[in-house]
Amino acid sequence: MTTFPAVRMRRLRGHLRLREMVRETRLTPSDFVMPLFIRPGRGQRKPIGSMPGQFQVSVDRLKEEVKELRARGIPAIILFGIPSRKDARGSGAWAPNGIVQQAVKAAKDAAPELLVVTDVCLCEYTDHGHCGVVDDGQIDNDRTLPILERAAVSHARAGADVVAPSGMMDGAVGAIRRGLDGAGFRETPILAYAAKFASAFYGPFRDAAESPPRFGDRSSYQMDPANADEALREIELDLAEGADMVMVKPALPYLDVVRRGKERFGVPMAAYNVSGEYAMIKAAAERGWLDEKKAILEVLTAIKRAGADLILTYHAREASEWIGR
Ligand code: PBG
Repeated sequence: MTTFPAVRMRRLRGHLRLREMVRETRLTPSDFVMPLFIRPGRGQRKPIGSMPGQFQVSVDRLKEEVKELRARGIPAIILFGIPSRKDARGSGAWAPNGIVQQAVKAAKDAAPELLVVTDVCLCEYTDHGHCGVVDDGQIDNDRTLPILERAAVSHARAGADVVAPSGMMDGAVGAIRRGLDGAGFRETPILAYAAKFASAFYGPFRDAAESPPRFGDRSSYQMDPANADEALREIELDLAEGADMVMVKPALPYLDVVRRGKERFGVPMAAYNVSGEYAMIKAAAERGWLDEKKAILEVLTAIKRAGADLILTYHAREASEWIGR
């Protein structure tokens, strides 16, 4: 192997233009999916305390939001609903005129070419805050499946372009695929939250979506952060059940899983740069402890470099402003 002094790695680092030309990973706004929180009422744009720069908006204010995102070149949003009423079975999740169903219609109306993804889960809609039906203090997997199926079909009916089951119930992808096919939505893709870890980094989201579990935690259904082989099995199973794209979540602490998943399966991979990852940067930047713009672009580049094709991130708006179209 030729080495120093014939080889000098620094030669390609000396000139800005050359550095740009040999750059391996390039972010574009079209990498991003922007998560949005929808709350009941009219004229609302309520700041989320633990996520500076993020808001819960009412359906009527969603139009301006999505137009602005489109203007910045962001191709897609994922919607989370905060219903005015919660119950034990999470019936708000599949109500034909539920909060997310209304939001989907409004978003498609305001920006028809924007891709609208919906999160299919019960936690925002159940009074106990768990992602499935609770029976005797346990989360009942199989009784949850028909409800998820119903929710996904109601989202597709409202006009959702992609549905994204996030509850980590076994068999959810298969149930949703059968439900969608049976209802005539054979072409609606499923983005499965395949490897979703029981993570501390969801903290601010539970604030934003008003969905913390009332008892216990989610470790009987979300994955142990220590397990990567198991994550690959989750991905494999979701693909076998009919997932079109798979997600790893959170992103930063699990970039090894993104990389291994991409290499093993070669399917479109998404990574969710979650609320806690966002909040950490915002909090440190507020204190002047890091350069906010550089930190954000470094994080997003790293997620893409690891193998993510889609990046779900609350930074979508600011990052696309910085990188241009
Ligand atoms: C569950 C769901 C969660 C997130 C997305 N979908 C939270 C959870 O499992 O507690 C977290 C997203 C984030 O932290 O940004 N419906």
